[in-house]
Amino acid sequence: MTIPAEVYREYHLLPSILSADFSRLGEEVDSVMDAGVRIVHVDVMDGHFVPNITIGPVVVAALAPRVHERGGWLSVHLMIEHPESYIEAFAKAGADALSVHVEACPHLYHAVQAIKDLGVGAGVAINPGTDVTRVSEVTSLVDLILVMTVNPGFGGQEMIVPALRKVPVLRSMLPDTAAIELDGGVKRDNIRRVVEAGANWIVAGSAVFGAPDPAAEARALQGLIGVPEAS
Ligand code: DX5
Ligand code: ZN
Repeated sequence: MTIPAEVYREYHLLPSILSADFSRLGEEVDSVMDAGVRIVHVDVMDGHFVPNITIGPVVVAALAPRVHERGGWLSVHLMIEHPESYIEAFAKAGADALSVHVEACPHLYHAVQAIKDLGVGAGVAINPGTDVTRVSEVTSLVDLILVMTVNPGFGGQEMIVPALRKVPVLRSMLPDTAAIELDGGVKRDNIRRVVEAGANWIVAGSAVFGAPDPAAEARALQGLIGVPEAS
């Protein structure tokens, strides 16, 4: 489903299912959506680009109808080599936004264009150790830039705070129609700082699904970034 243009400008909390209980994934997603979440973050890892291996298009296909039925969307973060080869499979599976890593894409412009041609929101993810100039040629094309504030691969890591410095720089490079999705180490005690830096789609994995009551934690984090309470 197409993510409406205004959603890229809004503030959203994106729970990452990486830290969810995979034996009851549907219920975990339902519980945060009941708390007002509209966008769910899905981490795809291949054991090559990052050391960990997670999920593929089948899990996206299983979740997408459930999330779409509730008026939500899936933002899929591809931490894989040769992401161009999998864009179509994830789009067909129901991804609503797809982000490829700049570090994995020698033909970045082509990859972004391929995502857009499939009618999916196009994102480029950037690691903490990568300079912002690496994305400057695609800032006018993308729907979002995904700023990593941990080295990708695992949930539950400490935020690399200096990586936040990229956010205001990227904000000045991007049209104001684009989102900055920030991913890694977000918790109650630093989420305001992330928003103040200029990010508006905020990913939280372990903070939400590692909490005793993920729905309550999602509500608390949304409150801190000014997302209206679920009715
Ligand atoms: C890490 C992933 C993140 C991860 C974030 O490589 O991209 O989306 O789920 O987890 P936390 O919020 O626990 O740092
Ligand atoms: Zn992620």
